Amino acid sequence: MKPGIATMISVLLAAFTAGAFAQQPAAPAPPPPAFAAPDLSPSGVRSLAAACTICHGTNGKAVEGSAVNSLAGRPAADLVGLMNQFKAGSRPATIMTQIAKGYGDAEIAAISDYFSKQR
Ligand code: HEC
Repeated sequence: MKPGIATMISVLLAAFTAGAFAQQPAAPAPPPPAFAAPDLSPSGVRSLAAACTICHGTNGKAVEGSAVNSLAGRPAADLVGLMNQFKAGSRPATIMTQIAKGYGDAEIAAISDYFSKQR
């Protein structure tokens, strides 16, 4: 073996022994994000629901031919159930799993109630 290679090997061995390639200890989990308390006043709920209308149509009424279903006029309990399934990941979805996770129970209840009353 050439001396150069022997040196390289011993340097690598030393590095291994010193733990240079050991996995870094896992960073401590970041604190959970602090969310503002939801505004569940009528105008607050309307604002929350507005975030859904970009895809689900104005007031939750999808335009004809849309691939995204209407929410307007559907029973609130059904909407709550669907949102909770998305949140739990038990209902296959492209985007709603992520979206549903951004809402707490009170917000989901309020938004669902809002859409149930739209025609
Ligand atoms: C970026 C577009 C987008 C936004 C914003 C959005 N949705 Fe959806 N939503 C979808 C799509 C697409 C589906 C079909 C499931 C999927 O692929 O995620 C869906 C499905 C749903 C369903 C199930 C409907 C059915 O008949 O199966 C409900 C309920 C729902 N969304 C509620 C909401 C609510 C409430 C909001 C607002 C908090 C919201 N969505 C915001 C795109 C969106």
